[in-house]
Amino acid sequence: MKSRRSLPLLLLLLFTFCIGIFAIDDVSAAQRKRKGSGNASLTNMEKSTMIYIREEEKLARDVYIKMYEVWGATIFSNISVSEQRHMDAVLNLLIKYGVPDPALSNPVGVFTNADLQQLYTDLVSQGTESLLDAFYVGRAIEIMDIDDLEGAMEETNKADLDNVYGNLLNGSYNHLDAFNTHIANLTQ
Ligand SMILES: [Fe+2]
Repeated sequence: MKSRRSLPLLLLLLFTFCIGIFAIDDVSAAQRKRKGSGNASLTNMEKSTMIYIREEEKLARDVYIKMYEVWGATIFSNISVSEQRHMDAVLNLLIKYGVPDPALSNPVGVFTNADLQQLYTDLVSQGTESLLDAFYVGRAIEIMDIDDLEGAMEETNKADLDNVYGNLLNGSYNHLDAFNTHIANLTQ
């Protein structure tokens, strides 16, 4: 009699215990899921692209700084400020994912990536020929950036990377429009 009365109580206790276990398991699973989505590691491709784009934005900034020194055209100083913001946005991503910054303490015109270093030299050389050439250099840089940013967006499924690259892409389209207008003003 005693054991039959205890059985429902035992079942109730067991049920409560199981609910508790499942509840704890659900909470920890949810915590793991949140943590995973916030700190998901980068693929090697996402990482190398992020490093490249950080320096590619520096290339744009540094060439425009140089072109402003040579020609004094305000378009170059205005857009170089925008490129600095682009560099900062990518730096925030590098920091978030613990990726070393390739542009760290490199002065204007100095790059870790040898291809970008050579490109800087070539573009500054071309842009020093004439003001029109400088605008052509600006157009070439923005077309290159647009292509690379679209590629970067295609290869990632991370919302934070996609968002930053998308903002940079919009900026590049605006810069391209500005350079095209300046080219048209000198050639038409
Ligand atoms: Fe740009």
